[in-house]
Amino acid sequence: MRIIITDSYENMGLEAANIVAGQIYLKPDSVLGLATGSTPVSMYQRLAAVHKSVGLDFSEVTTFNLDEYIGMAPENPQSYHYFMQEYFFRHINIRPENVFLPDGMADDVVAEGNRYEKLIAAKGGIDLQVLGIGQNAHIGFNEPDVKFAATTHKVELDEETIQANSRFFKNSDEVPRYAISMGIKTIMMAEHVILLANGRNKAEAVYKAVCGDVTPEAPASILQLHRDVALILDREAAALLPASIPGVPIRRK
Ligand code: F6R
Repeated sequence: MRIIITDSYENMGLEAANIVAGQIYLKPDSVLGLATGSTPVSMYQRLAAVHKSVGLDFSEVTTFNLDEYIGMAPENPQSYHYFMQEYFFRHINIRPENVFLPDGMADDVVAEGNRYEKLIAAKGGIDLQVLGIGQNAHIGFNEPDVKFAATTHKVELDEETIQANSRFFKNSDEVPRYAISMGIKTIMMAEHVILLANGRNKAEAVYKAVCGDVTPEAPASILQLHRDVALILDREAAALLPASIPGVPIRRK
């Protein structure tokens, strides 16, 4: 694990975008794992700007998103399908046939999870997975007490997650209670992982991910066991980390 601490949300996005762009320059047909939510928006904006200014080419790139709400159709503005189009895909030259998200409308969620896993494997696995983190240290929608061995599956959202995500809805009653999410195993099988976090409300989760015990109670703590993971934080999200951590290089930018 390594940590990059930046001085702003924009610079967190810039650092993350540099890593993603580097991945694509080195391997133009990269398979990316992507996240939704507020956190990666500055990274997506930066990547779109690099595409526009110097032609960063997404034409051979394949993407798999972490999750989708169950019962949410792609054309629903609150779906993650819609979010990705809006914030990223419509600004770059990715091919629609190379974009994958779990199908929240699938009748058989178990079969959909299996289909998604097979698709990821058929594309050669995920080269670089981008993650955000929940205030309860979830990654994807893998909530506390998750089974580390799970692959893409149906999850019931925590009350804390429902409250946090209610900002995107009229009220918390409208937030779906279930989602389909890549599992911890799916995430851990990615070749490289970057986890982004900004804001003081993420500081405890970041502390648990980096310094806490590896436990299903803090799903992100499993990343301590990944062979190549970088945490890209702003100062607020890094606020509870000690100045130095044995075996974890920290770069301040
Ligand atoms: C989103 C996802 C979630 C979010 C997390 C943080 O696809 O899988 O784990 O990354 O809930 O959300 P934001 O960035 O909105 O604080």
